[in-house]
Amino acid sequence: MIEKDFTAESITSNLNTTLIGQKVIFYPQVTSTMDVARREAKRGTPEGTVIIAGEQTGGHGRQKRLWLSPPGNIALSVILYPDVASLPYLVMIASLAVVHSIYSVTGLKADIKWPNDVLIGGKKVCGILIENEIGKDVPARAIMGIGININLGESKVDDSSVPVISLEKEIRRAVEKVDLVKQLLAEMERLYTMLPEGREIFAEWRQRLITLGKRVVVMTGDEKLEGTADSVDSSGALILRLDNGNLVTVVAGDVTLREK
Ligand code: BTN
Repeated sequence: MIEKDFTAESITSNLNTTLIGQKVIFYPQVTSTMDVARREAKRGTPEGTVIIAGEQTGGHGRQKRLWLSPPGNIALSVILYPDVASLPYLVMIASLAVVHSIYSVTGLKADIKWPNDVLIGGKKVCGILIENEIGKDVPARAIMGIGININLGESKVDDSSVPVISLEKEIRRAVEKVDLVKQLLAEMERLYTMLPEGREIFAEWRQRLITLGKRVVVMTGDEKLEGTADSVDSSGALILRLDNGNLVTVVAGDVTLREK
C-alpha cells in the first residue's frame, strides 16, 4: 500500500471494535509510541487508545534493546486500564492477537516463543513490549507495544540474537497494512473482553508456545540458567528444569531467552 494512505482515519473507518481503536493517534514519525502512550495514559486518555507511528526513530524492546521500525512496518501501542489480576494475560493476548491477525491477512502460520516473540519458521516477525504501572486503589495502566516486520530490509535487524523475517518477503506480495492493524485491534479486543476469565487464553497461548520441551539458556540479571523449558504456569512464568532436576520459576520480563 502507499504509505500516505496509512492514517488514523483509514484505521478507524469500519473498524470492528467498541473499545480498542476507538481513538487512534497517528504520528508519521515519532521516537517511540511507548513514550507517547505513557504520556497519554497519565493524562487519562480513554481505554483502548492506540498510538501508531509511520516510523519510529527510537523504538525499543525488552531489556532496552533497540527496535528498528522504518516506514512500511507496524509500530503501535495500545493503552489499557485492566484489573491487576488481568495483567499476566496481556502478554498472552498480544501474542495471540498477532498470530491470529497475521494468519487471517497473509495465511502464514506463526508461533510464539516464550514469553512474547512471534516467529515464522524460527525467525522473529514481531516483538511485544508490555509496560504496567500499578497504583494504589486505581486500575492499572498498561501499555501493549507491538512491532511487526512487514518489509524490513535485509540489513535491518533488531539487536537480539534472533534472526528476523518480514511478512512481505515471506509471502512475496504486498501486505495491506491497514487490514492487518484492523484485524490485530479487533482480535485484541475479542481476547481482552474474555477477561477476567483467562483460562482459554492461557490454554491457547501455552499450546502455541514452541519453547516448551526445548533446551534454553535464560539470562536473568547477571545469572545464567540453562536447562529444559518444562512448562508455564497460569501467570505466564516459565518453569525451567535444570540439569540437576530442580525446577526454577522464571518470570517473564526479567529475562533473555536463547534456544540452544
Ligand atoms: C522486543 O522484541 O523486545 C519488543 C519489541 C517491541 C517493539 C514495539 S514497536 C511499538 C512499540 N514502540 C516501541 O518503542 N517498542 C514497541
